[in-house]
Parts: sequence; C-alpha cells; structure tokens
Amino acid sequence: MGNAAMHGEKEERPELSISLRAQLHALSKVDLHRHLEGSLRLQTLAEIAQEHGIDLPSYDIEYLRPFVTVTDDEPDFHRFLQKFQLLRRFYTTQAAIERVAYEAVADAAADNVKYLELRFNPVALARAQGFSLDEVTTWVCAAVARAQRDFGVRTNLILQIGRDEDLDTASYIADVALAHRSEGVVGLDLAGDEARYPARCFAAVFQRVRQEGLGVTVHAGEVGGAENVREAVELLGAQRIGHGVRAIENSEVVQLLRDCGVTLEVCPTSNLQTGVVRRFWQHPLPDMLALNLRVTINTDDPSISDTTLTDEYLTVTLAMGVTLEQIKRTIVTAAESSFQPPDERRRLAEWFRKELGLEGR
Ligand code: HPA
Ligand code: ZN
Repeated sequence: MGNAAMHGEKEERPELSISLRAQLHALSKVDLHRHLEGSLRLQTLAEIAQEHGIDLPSYDIEYLRPFVTVTDDEPDFHRFLQKFQLLRRFYTTQAAIERVAYEAVADAAADNVKYLELRFNPVALARAQGFSLDEVTTWVCAAVARAQRDFGVRTNLILQIGRDEDLDTASYIADVALAHRSEGVVGLDLAGDEARYPARCFAAVFQRVRQEGLGVTVHAGEVGGAENVREAVELLGAQRIGHGVRAIENSEVVQLLRDCGVTLEVCPTSNLQTGVVRRFWQHPLPDMLALNLRVTINTDDPSISDTTLTDEYLTVTLAMGVTLEQIKRTIVTAAESSFQPPDERRRLAEWFRKELGLEGR
C-alpha cells in the first residue's frame, strides 16, 4: 500500500505505483534461446558437489559464484565459454541431470515464461561420467515433461552441437535429436566458437534434420561477422539465428534475413559479457527493430549472466529505449518462430496476442 493510501487520501494514478520491473515481470513471456547448462542454480551446484564429493576448496555458493557467473570479468567471448567447462563436472548422476533440467523450467515459470525452448549439448552432460547421449537426452526430456506439468510452462527442447565436434559426433547428435522427437525435441542448434570453426562443415547434418522436420537455429553473427549469418541461412537452412546482431553490418544479409523470414534470438546481457558490444546503448537492437527484422529477446544463460528475462526486458527498456509495445511484439514474434507444428505455432501466437492486448494490431 502506498503512502497516500496509508494516510487515508485518495490514491491517484495507481498504475504509477506499479514499478516497471513488476510490470515487465507480469508479462507472459517466450524464451527461445536459453541453455540448460547456463541455467543452474548455484545452491544446487553446491549441493551436488557436496553429495558427490566433487573436489572443490569450498562448497559455499559465494566461492562457486565467480566460476559460474560473470562477475567483474573483463568482457571476453572465450572467458564466457569457459564457464561451461567447470559446469560439466556437475552432471554426476541421472538424478543430478534431472534436477537441473527440472529447476531450469521452474525458474522460467517464476519469471512468467509461458513458452520455453531449452537447449543443451548432450555431449556436455554425458562425457564426464561416460553416459550415452541417448540416455542423458531421455533424462532431460522426462524431467522437463514433469516440470512443464508442474509449473504450466510449455517447454520444448533443442539439441546442441558444438562447432568443435567432429562430423561423426555431429551426425550422431542429429540422430539422437530425431529419435527423441516424440519426447519434445523440436530442433538442432550449432554453438561454440564461430571465429575458429566454420558452420559450412555441418551443412549436410543440418539440411538433413531440417528435411526431417526439425527446426534449425545457429549461433552466428555474434563474435563473427555478417557472412557467418549468411552461411547459416544459405548452407545450413537456419530458420533462426542465435544472436545475429552483427548481421546489420551488411545490408545484403539484412535483406536475406527479411526475404527468408529468419528470426534473430537476441540476448543483450550475454552480448555485453562476451564483448560483442561495449555498452548497452551501443547495442544494435533498436536498429534491428527499425529495419523490420524479426527480433526476439532472450536470456542465453541466466546463471552465467545472473539475469532473468524480466531483467533483459528492463535493460532494453532503460538502456536502449525499447518501448513496452515493441517488447510485446517481440514476444509474439517469438511465439510465431517457435519450433512447433504450424497449427500449434499459430495458436500460441494468437494466445499471446490476446494475452498481451495486441489483437487486431
Ligand atoms: N555463443 C556461442 N556458443 C555458446 C554461447 C554463445 O553465446 N553460449 C553457449 N554456447
Ligand atoms: Zn547461446
């Protein structure tokens, strides 16, 4: 209750007493670009480490924080990716993997995410303990199915190939993705160092899954230039691009994205921490919106970046001048770009239009 109401005065303009954060938190949201391995609660990591005797000098979460989360690190892409290396040690058992998958959906629900596509690299979950890619995928699917029932977040999964994988492993990950379609796997992603490992090597793998009906998204145009975005679209058949912010450096690539209706999964805080932009006000998101690109706003790695989707909306509002109406449109764009069958995609977009008051606009 505000001060005025406490003193018995008539409270004027009550809408002004609702903070911007609360307003953004209350929005029903879509996150298309969120890594399971970047969505681990520190408390859970500490508990897993203790239960399984993972050798750490301390199990205190404040000790763990700088290993997992970007704190005062100098912005750097490789330093950002290194955070994932430590995390690989925590996928110790089936129970641990199921727990982190379940909690990732719970945390999305707490942020009012209503539709989530969660991605993970099955090699990262499997390798330390010698699990098979197939079994870790089965565990994640089962945990996510349970979580979506418990928390009411519609959740689908995307399997991720690291750019540093050999072609046989990449092709096998594609097979695993196709084999788990009935359990909620809807797409395939390419991630890792785009400056060192070209996407074109994986063209056949991605074209194959696309023909089989899986969605294709590729991390590109983040630390690499616009040509990498062109390659992802033209050679791999990407319908969505992870980040893609550097596409605007080349007007032909911008035109290609518009012609092909490609959706860009923008993750603002991640871009700052990987050094793609030095300051939020320099971020190209407002330009991308002005160019009529299909833009969505996402978290990438909530734990590594210490962020939520509400935080990302707050950042684009306060630091980039993006309006609430524009944010709502990005949410509808995200629903339209979800890797679901066309009917479900349309229904989801319609639901969000109604929910966000954008009907007929
Ligand atoms: N870029 C490339 N690979 C990644 C990223 C990213 O931002 N996050 C996790 N893997
Ligand atoms: Zn990512």
